[in-house]
Amino acid sequence: MMQAVALHENGGPDVMRLREHPDPTPRAGEVLVELRAAALNRRDTIVRQGVYEFPFPYVLGSDGAGVRRDTGEEVVVLPSVAWGDDEAAPGPDFQILGGPDDGTHAELISIAEENIFPKPARFSWQEAAAFPLAGLTAYRALFTRAQLVAGETVAVLGAGSGVSTIAVQLAAQAGARVFVTSSEQEKIDRAKEVGAEAGVDYTADGWVDELRGLTGGAGVDVVVDSVGSTWPESLASLSPGGRVVCFGATGGTEAQLQVRPFYFGQASLLGTTMGSPREFAALLDVIDRGDWAPVIDSVRPLADAAEAHRRLESRQHFGKLVFDVS
Ligand SMILES: NC(=O)c1ccc[n+]([C@@H]2O[C@H](COP(=O)([O-])OP(=O)(O)OC[C@H]3O[C@@H](n4cnc5c(N)ncnc54)[C@H](OP(=O)(O)O)[C@@H]3O)[C@@H](O)[C@H]2O)c1
Repeated sequence: MMQAVALHENGGPDVMRLREHPDPTPRAGEVLVELRAAALNRRDTIVRQGVYEFPFPYVLGSDGAGVRRDTGEEVVVLPSVAWGDDEAAPGPDFQILGGPDDGTHAELISIAEENIFPKPARFSWQEAAAFPLAGLTAYRALFTRAQLVAGETVAVLGAGSGVSTIAVQLAAQAGARVFVTSSEQEKIDRAKEVGAEAGVDYTADGWVDELRGLTGGAGVDVVVDSVGSTWPESLASLSPGGRVVCFGATGGTEAQLQVRPFYFGQASLLGTTMGSPREFAALLDVIDRGDWAPVIDSVRPLADAAEAHRRLESRQHFGKLVFDVS
């Protein structure tokens, strides 16, 4: 038996306990990875709450890095499972790791060989566990979907988010001018340390005008929106011909849009989710050429998973919450 954060019921953070869970048995095409570090995503909290109704028990966790047991290689786990061959969208068998299939918040995982990639040499175990889901999502959003190029301006909403911190770093590495929004000045300041030029407080009235003001009134070329309820403000922040790319609904699942400014402004509203194995390989290449590391908010053992979920849900964090598994 291994130790794992296995869910036996849905509910608040206290339903999670580190407990004994059967060792995984590799199916055809799978290999065992002994995890060294794992990381938390908003999805883990949504799964824990029971939004998807997976059969119990199952192990949470999409992000992990560790040692491949049969070869001793140091690897990271790609959390997009069965994306398929189409770059435009995942196929019908697509899943995100960590429910219903057992995830990474455990000592061991059995995972398809095609889902393991070499650990970036310049990252620690904790950094390697922190980037896969957030990095892949940010990479596809910025470059495949929004087609961001050097010299363009991009606004990343919610600077504290795990995906946002890495989106700031990737956009800055690509030569874009990056702005953020956040509920806290301290998080704006920290975003500036990792590549943002400036930021605005989205809890203040008139933040769209303030954001546009940062671009001399022109508006931004791209908005990265994981908030959902902010679609009207995101569209209003764009320069003519700009793009809003969205992949989350942290702030709510409904938004009411003004149709005329949308088409007069030649705007694009782009949906995206996760990314393909090819995009993950491209992200690894970008990481190799970069000099940044994922922003780690805090590190704790898997036994303190409930505390990590509480911290994420109360928006105290900046960057990724990581679990030390070894
Ligand atoms: N579809 C996909 O493939 C995919 C992949 C990854 C993530 N997601 C989604 O993307 C979102 C972010 O994920 P995550 O793991 O990075 O989450 P996270 O770390 O929990 O980030 C949440 C952050 O959102 C910001 N926020 C909340 N309400 C806001 C509002 N009204 N306006 C602006 N910002 C607001 C806050 O930023 P401040 O603290 O700075 O105020 C908060 O810290 C989640 O909804 C998640 O489900 C989707």
